[in-house]
Amino acid sequence: MTLPGYFKNHKASAFAPATMGNMAVGFDILGGTLSGVGDTVHLELTPCRSPGQSSIVIESITGTDSDKLPLVALENTAGKALIALLAGEGLAVDVAVRIEKGIPLGSGLGGSAASAVAAVVAMNALLKEPLDQNKLIIYALEGEAVASGAKHADNVTPCLLGGVVGVFSVEPLSVRSIPMPPGISVAVVKPQVGIKTEEARALLGGEVEKSLVIKQQARLAGFIVGCMSNDKVLIQESFKDDWIEPQRKKLIPHFDEVKKAADGDGVFGASISGAGPAIFALCEDLNTAMKALDRMKAVYDNVSMASLAWACEIPQTGASVVTEV
Ligand code: HSE
Repeated sequence: MTLPGYFKNHKASAFAPATMGNMAVGFDILGGTLSGVGDTVHLELTPCRSPGQSSIVIESITGTDSDKLPLVALENTAGKALIALLAGEGLAVDVAVRIEKGIPLGSGLGGSAASAVAAVVAMNALLKEPLDQNKLIIYALEGEAVASGAKHADNVTPCLLGGVVGVFSVEPLSVRSIPMPPGISVAVVKPQVGIKTEEARALLGGEVEKSLVIKQQARLAGFIVGCMSNDKVLIQESFKDDWIEPQRKKLIPHFDEVKKAADGDGVFGASISGAGPAIFALCEDLNTAMKALDRMKAVYDNVSMASLAWACEIPQTGASVVTEV
């Protein structure tokens, strides 16, 4: 089997982590990486059956909510990202794709971005001349847009780069990692309901009062300055969303109670992860996050509502190539 010369290998797998979009103060602008949960994509290349014409076949999707995801490559975030990458780089090959979902569908934890990012990272590992990060983000965004109807990059970028990332422009792409105080951690609780990002975006009103724009701009700036200068007072003062959260919280059962339960020493605040329903609390260290997690999860336990819940430090690494076992 001879592959075109631009490939160095025929098989690769990559893992991409869950992410929290918006991070309360940066709608479509800020995103943070999570550890412990993610998607894995396996690729296997064969020479084109139709010369010069790539074909992407999604052979299987397994794991969480896998039965609800499309196998048609153009409709699948991983498939669409791969189609965009091959077309954009002028590469022709047949690709067999297997997707293992770890991130629930419609969770607000960046599942559509993770599959797209894992796919492009795995493909990049097969190239003799790997693409730069910006190109991978751009191709993964084509996949993300299939699911959410918009090219918001606040999940794709932290998923690829790790840490907390600011998306300062999508076209042309301009993203930067935002240094965070050491040890900063999150508690994440997701009740067992699903929210479609596209619908949660459609819900948002178009007009925004000038006074609210000023307030949210100050908070975004304050949050970034606070993170970069390890000013925990400023982080806490800034970590508030009076714009998106009030419009979307009605989609999330017991949101106000969970947010209130998160309150405590060393907790900067809690808000919706991405489009929800996952809720995250930003905390100064992992110990604080674990305590906040118990309080937040107890709200759902007390009403016998199942939830997915975990705490982690914000990892500094994003998607990575994995060795298949
Ligand atoms: N910024 C996006 C939104 C994230 O809130 O719609 C979706 O995960």
